[in-house]
Amino acid sequence: MCGIVGYIGDKQAQPILLNALSKLEYRGYDSCGIAIANKSIEVFKDAVRVKALARTLESHEGRIGIGHTRWATHGEPSKINAHPHCDCSGKIAVVHNGTINNFARLREQLTAEGHTLASETDTEVIPHLIEKYYDGDFEKAVEKAVGDLEGAYTMIALMVGEPRLIAARKDSPLIIGVGDRENFFASDVPALLDYTSRVIYLEDGDIAVVTASDVKVRQNGKVIDREVHKITWSMEDAQKGGYEHFMLKEIHEQPRVIRDTLTEYISAEEPAADLAGAGAGSLENMVILACGTSYHAGLVGKSIIEDLVNVPVRVEHADEFSLSGRSLAGHQAIVITQSGETLDVLKAIKRLKANGNRVIAVTNVVGSSVTRASDKTLYTRAGPEICVAATKTFIGQLIALYWLALPYAGVDAARLDELVMELRQLPVKVQQILDNEAEIAALAKKLAAFDNVFYVGKGINYPVALEGALKLKEISYIHAEGYAAGELKHGPFALLGEKTPVVAVVTQDNTYEPIITSIKEIKARRSPVFALTNEDDNVMPDLADYVITVPRVDPLFSPVVNIVVLQLLAYFVAKERGCPIDFPRNLAKTVTVE
Ligand code: AGP
Ligand code: GLU
Repeated sequence: MCGIVGYIGDKQAQPILLNALSKLEYRGYDSCGIAIANKSIEVFKDAVRVKALARTLESHEGRIGIGHTRWATHGEPSKINAHPHCDCSGKIAVVHNGTINNFARLREQLTAEGHTLASETDTEVIPHLIEKYYDGDFEKAVEKAVGDLEGAYTMIALMVGEPRLIAARKDSPLIIGVGDRENFFASDVPALLDYTSRVIYLEDGDIAVVTASDVKVRQNGKVIDREVHKITWSMEDAQKGGYEHFMLKEIHEQPRVIRDTLTEYISAEEPAADLAGAGAGSLENMVILACGTSYHAGLVGKSIIEDLVNVPVRVEHADEFSLSGRSLAGHQAIVITQSGETLDVLKAIKRLKANGNRVIAVTNVVGSSVTRASDKTLYTRAGPEICVAATKTFIGQLIALYWLALPYAGVDAARLDELVMELRQLPVKVQQILDNEAEIAALAKKLAAFDNVFYVGKGINYPVALEGALKLKEISYIHAEGYAAGELKHGPFALLGEKTPVVAVVTQDNTYEPIITSIKEIKARRSPVFALTNEDDNVMPDLADYVITVPRVDPLFSPVVNIVVLQLLAYFVAKERGCPIDFPRNLAKTVTVE
């Protein structure tokens, strides 16, 4: 997790590091810190957000520095555990993203050799290892230290008297920003857009040595040329654009995301990806692997593919699959991940590839680790998503999944045309919901008064209920659970009553009658019901306590409209409760740890 940055050049490092770090806080924000090298190394860190650190810090001279915004894995968020960490002499400083699996053994050895380690972090072994191996050659010492590490150890090191930064990438992202008489490191592009649009994506196993005027990358001891990419999106794309929160901005961008993601595929004459061709496994053996919101997109994907193509699809949490020891030999695998950096997903891909599976990735980030590890990538064109809670990337994933399945649909040409027409209409339907957000905000005021909420849906909208509940719990801290509507009576009914509302996703398809029955049973237990339903539904207004109308679309596409309502509902509830919507407690946008 976490965000790391580095600067070396002809300007003062401090303001650049703090500004770049503030753009990476979506990756972790329980503490932060910077180290600046001049005649000595000065470290400033605390268990606060970047803004607070910047406010209290006087300006310190130095044209080389590193910075970190943390998502704690080893040791609580505290000043002492915050990065950067130093060696005994205080001449070497390191920021690190990831987890070092063998840190306990290394720490024991280092302590026996006379090193004193002050924090509870796994990271602190790194500067001490560099110190141990240093015999006048900084680069060699870093390389040797890296050789001792097991786990995920993307890091940047700094040493007094050394006019260079040395970084290693393993299992978490790291880019180099190429400037004019200056160079940068960062975990992600938004951190650097104020300074440069030329970046190099490092690969696993790379060691990069960067001075103000030079970049050298080595892999297995050999110097290699890594391409410099030009970033085409601007800082404005990554900023709030007048909205109070990134989340609201990102929800409002969804009509554009649908259009852009469709444009990506609609003009192509070939299917988005070959699901059944040579080496692709058979259509009968498909598995989708993902985590969190992307997993929910995978569950919708299962319904889409099963409905359209009429083949069974397995969906598994990436982490559960990695642990299970099961082989999915012969399966066509689809992995879904907005960031393309989720470690659980990367581990799943490694296992799949080891078993000879072909892997199709659906992701939002060009050049991310998952794109490099997979055979084929389908991009969602959502643009940078900053709010920790995923919204527009989920919509992008659904659109990619529709487009993946449509060429294999067992329907006639007329029906196919109809479906494509409907897909093209979705931006307009989503816009109708956005135009109506005041109605959702009013209902959110009522929902905000409760401490426990159930979300129910059926069929293709069951995962929408799961995703709606995840959104609510992530950003409003209200305990919410998503259920298949018919399952509630098998136990959770014990919790129903006036204090436990149920948000029901009601769609005019073959699930309509059974969900009406479920809602009647729920009402008999006195739970307030908030129902999402189509404009022409004349049953729900009498049955539910509160009704939110949703434009009618083909049931296959109903998750796209329904989830937008649930995103807005969660957003306005969290706002009503005064929560820090874009940066919820304990979470991070990109989960690069196990
Ligand atoms: C979504 O709101 C969450 N922040 C989280 O569940 C997320 O979807 C999950 O960590 C997977 O991330 P990915 O799509 O980047 O792989
Ligand atoms: N494992 C390190 C720590 O707990 C780094 C975590 C991170 O990536 O933020 O400090």
